[in-house]
Amino acid sequence: MVKTIIIVELFIYLFIYFLGQTSFKVVVKSLSPKELVRIHVSKPLDRNDGTFLIRYRMYETAQEGLKIEVLYGNEHVAQSPYILKGPVYHEYCECPEEDPWAWQKTLSCPTSEPQIEKDFASFPSINLEQMLNEVPKRFGDERGAVVHYTILSNHIYRRSLGKYTDFKMFSDEMLLSLARKVVLPDLEFYINLGDWPLEHRKVNETPGPIPIISWCGSLDSRDVILPTYDITHSTLEAMRGVTNDLLSVQGNTGPSWINKTEKAFFRGRDSREERLQLVQMSKENPQLLDAGITGYFFFQEKEKELGKAKLMGFFDFFKYKYQVNVDGTVAAYRYPYLMLGDSLVLKQDSPYYEHFYAALQPWKHYVPIKRNLSDLLEKVKWAKENDQEAKKIAKEGQLAARDLLQPHRLYCYYYRVLQKYAERQSSKPEIHDGMELVSQPDDSTSICQCNRKKPLREEL
Ligand SMILES: *[C@@H]1O[C@H](CO)[C@@H](O)[C@H](O)[C@H]1NC(C)=O
Ligand SMILES: *[C@@H]1O[C@H](CO)[C@@H](O)[C@H](O)[C@H]1NC(C)=O
Repeated sequence: MVKTIIIVELFIYLFIYFLGQTSFKVVVKSLSPKELVRIHVSKPLDRNDGTFLIRYRMYETAQEGLKIEVLYGNEHVAQSPYILKGPVYHEYCECPEEDPWAWQKTLSCPTSEPQIEKDFASFPSINLEQMLNEVPKRFGDERGAVVHYTILSNHIYRRSLGKYTDFKMFSDEMLLSLARKVVLPDLEFYINLGDWPLEHRKVNETPGPIPIISWCGSLDSRDVILPTYDITHSTLEAMRGVTNDLLSVQGNTGPSWINKTEKAFFRGRDSREERLQLVQMSKENPQLLDAGITGYFFFQEKEKELGKAKLMGFFDFFKYKYQVNVDGTVAAYRYPYLMLGDSLVLKQDSPYYEHFYAALQPWKHYVPIKRNLSDLLEKVKWAKENDQEAKKIAKEGQLAARDLLQPHRLYCYYYRVLQKYAERQSSKPEIHDGMELVSQPDDSTSICQCNRKKPLREEL
C-alpha cells in the first residue's frame, strides 16, 4: 500500500510516499553536519487511512537548511532524504519577510478566498476617521468586547473599548506570530471579541455599515470575519505540540467506519433550545440518536427532566458514525473538529458561519438538517440505509477540512484580511491615546539568528 506522510512545522508541508506499515522512523536534522540544531520530533499521528502527520519543533535556526529522513528499517524510502533549503526559522524567531507576495507564495496561499472577497465587497473604502468617531460610541460601551488595534512599522498597539476583552490574548498571539514571519501593512482596525457579529446596517443604508472584524459571521450582519479564536489558538498550540488541537484530532478518529456505532451522537452544553430538543428526541429514539447535555446554564429548569450526561473526551465522539452539529450561542466551534474526524456530520442549517464554511457544500461534505431538527431522524435513517453514500460524504468532508484547516492556510487567511483592509484605508493609521504596545514574547530558550534585513525602524 502507498502511504503518505505529511510533515508539519510552522508552514512547511512535505508529502512523502512510502511503502510499509507503521514501523518507520522520521529524523529531522540540520543540513550542515557542523551545525547542531535542537529539534523535537513528535510521535506520528496515524490518520488511519494510510497517511500520517508528523510534527517537529525547532529551537534554533537551521542556517543551511533541514534534512528530513524517512526510514523504513535503515533504508530511505521514496525520495528521502528531503531537503528544505535554509535558513529555516523557528516559531518564536522574529524575522519577518519584507515582501508579502514572496511570503504568500512560499506558503502556497490560495489566489482567492471567496469569503474574504464577499466580506470586503461591502467596503470599497475604509474611512478611519469615521471608524474612530463611530466605533467607541456604537460598540464601546461597558458591556462591549471591542479592541482597537493599530499596526505601524510591524509593531502592534491596542486599547480595549469595553470590559469583556480578555480574549484579546488570542488576537494578540496571532498578530504577534504573523509579525514574526512577515511584515504587516500599516493599519488600524477593530476586533470584536464577543460571540455575536455587530454590524447590522445594510450596504444601501445611510449611514452605511463599517467593517468590524469578528470571529463569527451571520447572514444578517456585515462583519468581516477571521478564523475563530478557537481554531486560531488551536493552530498555534498545535505547533507547540499539545493535544486536542486540529492536528491531534486527525490522529484520533476512533474505530474504522465499519466498527463505529451506527447512531447519531451529540454532547454539549445547553446553549440553544434545539440542543434540549435533541435530548428529548434521543430519549424517544435511542436506536437512532445518543444525545446528552453535559452542563446547564441557560435552561437550568430543564436539568431535572432531561438529566445531565457525563463529560466525554472529544476523541471518543468518533466511536459514533454520525455527528450532530447544532449551533451554540452562534456557530458551534466544534464543527471544524467534527469535520476532521471520519464520521458523517449532520449539520443544522444556520445563519451563522465561520471563515471556511463557504467552501463546504451540503450532500457533498456533510448532510444538512433543518434548523428545527424536524428531519434529523429521517436523515439518520437515510444514512443507515445508504452506508456507502454516507461514508463517501464523510470522507469528502474530511478531505476538504484537512485542506482548508491546515496551519498555513490560517496564516494566509489572516494576512489576506489585513492586506485587503489596508488597501482600502483612505487615511494613515495612527496610534491613539490609551494604546499600548503589545510586545513580542521574550524568547530565552530558543536562538534566533535572522538573516533577513532588520525589521523596519520605528518611524515615530
Ligand atoms: C473491527 O473490530 C474487530 C473487533 O475488535 C477487529 O477485529 C477488526 O479488525 C476491526 N475492523 C477494522 C476494519 O478495523
Ligand atoms: C420546521 O421547519 C420547516 C421549515 O424549515 C417547517 O416547514 C416545519 O413546519 C417546521 N416543523 C416544526 C415541527 O416546527
